[in-house]
Amino acid sequence: MLMPRVKKEEQPEKKVRKKMKPIQAVKGMKDILPPEQFIWEHILETSRHMCQDFGFGRIETPIVENTDLFKRGVGQVTDIVEKEMFSFETQGGDKISLRPEGTAGVVRSYIENGMSRWTQPVRLYYDGSMFRYDKPQQGRYREFHHFGAEVIGEDSPAIDAHVIYLAWKIFQKIGIKDISIQINSIGCATCRAKYKKLLTDYYDMKINKLCTDCKRRLEKNPMRLLDCKEEKCMQVAAGAPQIIDNLCPECNGHFKSVLEFLDELEIPYVLNSNLVRGLDYYTRTVFEIWAEGDDNDSRQTALGGGGRYDGLIGLLGGEETPAVGFAFGVERVAEKVMKLNLDLEPKISKDVFLVQLGDLARRKVMKVFDKIIDTDISVGESVGRGSIKSQLRMANKAHAKLALIIGQKEALDNTVIVRDMKSGMQETVIMNEIVKEVRRMLSK
Ligand code: HAM
Repeated sequence: MLMPRVKKEEQPEKKVRKKMKPIQAVKGMKDILPPEQFIWEHILETSRHMCQDFGFGRIETPIVENTDLFKRGVGQVTDIVEKEMFSFETQGGDKISLRPEGTAGVVRSYIENGMSRWTQPVRLYYDGSMFRYDKPQQGRYREFHHFGAEVIGEDSPAIDAHVIYLAWKIFQKIGIKDISIQINSIGCATCRAKYKKLLTDYYDMKINKLCTDCKRRLEKNPMRLLDCKEEKCMQVAAGAPQIIDNLCPECNGHFKSVLEFLDELEIPYVLNSNLVRGLDYYTRTVFEIWAEGDDNDSRQTALGGGGRYDGLIGLLGGEETPAVGFAFGVERVAEKVMKLNLDLEPKISKDVFLVQLGDLARRKVMKVFDKIIDTDISVGESVGRGSIKSQLRMANKAHAKLALIIGQKEALDNTVIVRDMKSGMQETVIMNEIVKEVRRMLSK
């Protein structure tokens, strides 16, 4: 029999379930999952405690700031401002940016909140997300985290050394003991003007050997050419006049003094005359923290960096005020900690571990859990459906002293078997008296 033909549009729609494409994290941004969290906590808690011991107070500034803050603060002719900012316009027409670093925001806050009236110097520490639209690779992300510390209101070289000492101490305490501090002085505006002229004259003669970026930067920011990562530019930089030979007497004295303090504190450092850092606000002392054994030729892996920025507060509209600080990248430090295989895994040790079998027992266990969670007795459980044997294995793994077992019978009787995990001895107790009984057995 011939079936009547159904027109195409009348045919019932075939229900084909198309698998949705999973949405991924934004390029260069990543999750920090539970197994990594104890490393992050170790790094951040150690750093926070150390800062508190050194007399620093915590500051939190917004993740977004007016774009002008970074243009003026970090500098127009820097990689960060030229190509790495996440900038956008709000619905009200304000031009704002995700912060690429923390110092400019801290200084803005210092000025805005009248911190110059506080006892000087003001010592502040912070941690949080930073954003740079960089090429993502190992150790370089588009969202990353800084831990940073700033001392505002004091120009003594002792403070530069104090800040480096703090950074060094933090790394020792974290467990990255083998680090070196690369240090340089880039002088003040006066000695730098003279030096920039020398440098420009030198690079003018080598212009054909430079990369396109360096050619472009030569006029506005010749010092940045010194730390270009291009091989050919590094070769030219090796023969360039050095800032250290061109410091004014005051800057020279300041730098010498910083180094003497570091010698006194026995902090190992390496003089690096090409170290200028990628942000424009620095004056005098600049430094970077490197893990020994890392490839010091590739500038990818500095764990942290900092320096003095005596002009920044004035530049952002405050009274001229000297300042110095540093920040490290938490991701890079966490990666280093993982490489070192430091024994940081928290030793979970529970007083009791709940074990159950059957639906009714599972419900009763929840009641027992509720009684114990409000006390100082630490409790672990596996809400899953494993056998008693596998749950006891978990209790062992959690170093539990007692296992509280509820099977079908105990659930009906409203009792609990309390098993001493070491001796294997068991007692049956009344469920309502579980807290009292556990306390008694723990105190044995
Ligand atoms: P910075 O050298 O630009 O300095 O950043 C400090 C550290 O942040 C670097 O040494 C690195 O470990 C980490 N870092 C930078 N960019 C990335 C990235 N894309 N992905 C992962 N980690 C990164 C500053 O930002 C200054 N504010 C430091 C300072 C504070 N100077 C004075 N006070």
